[in-house]
Amino acid sequence: MKEIDTDIACVQLGNVHVIPVTCPEIAREFLKKHDATVSSRPTSMAARAFSGGYLTTILTPYGNQWKKMRRVLVSEIISPARHHWLTDRRTEEADNLIKYIYNRSKSSSKTVNVRTATRQYTGNVIRKLMFSKRYFQEERADGGPTVAEEEHVEAIFTILKYVYAFCISDYFPWLVGLDLDGHEMFVKEAVKTVNNYHDPIIDARIGKWRRFGNLNMEPPSDEPHDLLDVLVTVKDSEGKPLLTPEEIKAQVTEIMFATVDNPSNAVEWAITEMINQPKILKTAMDELDRVVGKERLVQEYDIPHLNYIKACIREAFRLHPIAPFNPPHMAMSDAIVAGYFIPKGSHVLLSRLGLGRNPKVWNKPLEFRPERHFTSGSTEVHLTEPDLRFISFSTGRRGCVAPMLGTAMTVMLLARMVQGFNWKAPPNVMSISLDESPEDLSLAHPLVAHAEPRLPLYLYP
Ligand code: HEM
Repeated sequence: MKEIDTDIACVQLGNVHVIPVTCPEIAREFLKKHDATVSSRPTSMAARAFSGGYLTTILTPYGNQWKKMRRVLVSEIISPARHHWLTDRRTEEADNLIKYIYNRSKSSSKTVNVRTATRQYTGNVIRKLMFSKRYFQEERADGGPTVAEEEHVEAIFTILKYVYAFCISDYFPWLVGLDLDGHEMFVKEAVKTVNNYHDPIIDARIGKWRRFGNLNMEPPSDEPHDLLDVLVTVKDSEGKPLLTPEEIKAQVTEIMFATVDNPSNAVEWAITEMINQPKILKTAMDELDRVVGKERLVQEYDIPHLNYIKACIREAFRLHPIAPFNPPHMAMSDAIVAGYFIPKGSHVLLSRLGLGRNPKVWNKPLEFRPERHFTSGSTEVHLTEPDLRFISFSTGRRGCVAPMLGTAMTVMLLARMVQGFNWKAPPNVMSISLDESPEDLSLAHPLVAHAEPRLPLYLYP
């Protein structure tokens, strides 16, 4: 597309028109002006497997099931009241992050695998919100993951890798079952691993809340304790359980994979860029020292005042998205967009790199410069970008339902890491390589860095 100097193209794969878009104007035409037309999702082998046969929100094509599940998420799972209700749980995981990095910084190597720390933090937060626990079985004294949590997070990242990957049988259906690219096998394995961890917990909870109904007895008088309790107890207009066990299981998995990748990837990249450009790290530390001080740890209520930290995260989303494309949107009828005929059934792919690194929009787009997100006149920096100059939470009917939770998690992750530690490249490394993985757009090699505690000792849990 760069070579032929176009911002929109059409590639025919089998019978499907796949339409990549690389500029914000056309992206906005799709997701604002023609939002209603393109608010479905394509079906695929992987999407079907991960959504339990389209029972969820993100992966489910437009229709009543998508509407029902999106409504449950918006009103029951990520509403402001629910967000507030779970603040202490998120803070526990932010404390555990500090504890884990502190313990690693005192190990003989004094280095921290930042990818492990960030991915486990996001996994821990969502396990804590969903299941009320960080560990599936035995706990580790240093706050780090056991084999079980590592396997769980890895399987969730495998789901993310394959969910909208190019799988040949999605475009040439007569190839289904031959598994020519091996995707079916990886998808099945990942689903099995995740279900092995989730199913016993979910089945037990359904038993706790629902067997009383079957026995014509009163349900337990407890209040819901976590998001899983909420999903199990939410009722329809007749007072019956709204969600089936299959819907709950599929939706739990989807919430897990919606939560883990963007915050962890953005913060790993932000810390990498900060190590290579110590001035940026210093500015971020100064902001934390000014806003929070050194006598307490940063809390969620500080987020509105941490504009430089948020600008660093916006810059990481812009320059270093984890995936090359926004999840695909599918056209439900013919349309004319930006003067082009878009046939019904087309898959519209907004290029995250095309938008975020677009030289017509961004000055020196390949440089990490958080300052570019301070616009004259605006007082508070937000992570949302409804104008689609890069993709953070996207916009429109299919836009992310959870900017509040996503912002809280990402800002707390970066803010705690920068407030708690001075970060440097390991000895004998001049600067960290910014090479991207050939498989996705994460750092080619997990960031391993030297962390030096910078707060009074009593603040490290
Ligand atoms: C920093 C964190 C996050 C980022 C950057 C992010 C970003 C996105 C993006 C780009 C989309 C696709 C929008 C589109 O198709 O145009 C999306 C959809 C979605 N996200 Fe998030 N997300 C984050 C966290 C979360 C969390 C924590 C949840 C948990 C509930 C969540 C739930 C969803 C759902 C349900 C959708 C699909 C909506 C639909 O298809 O109707 N996200 N998100």
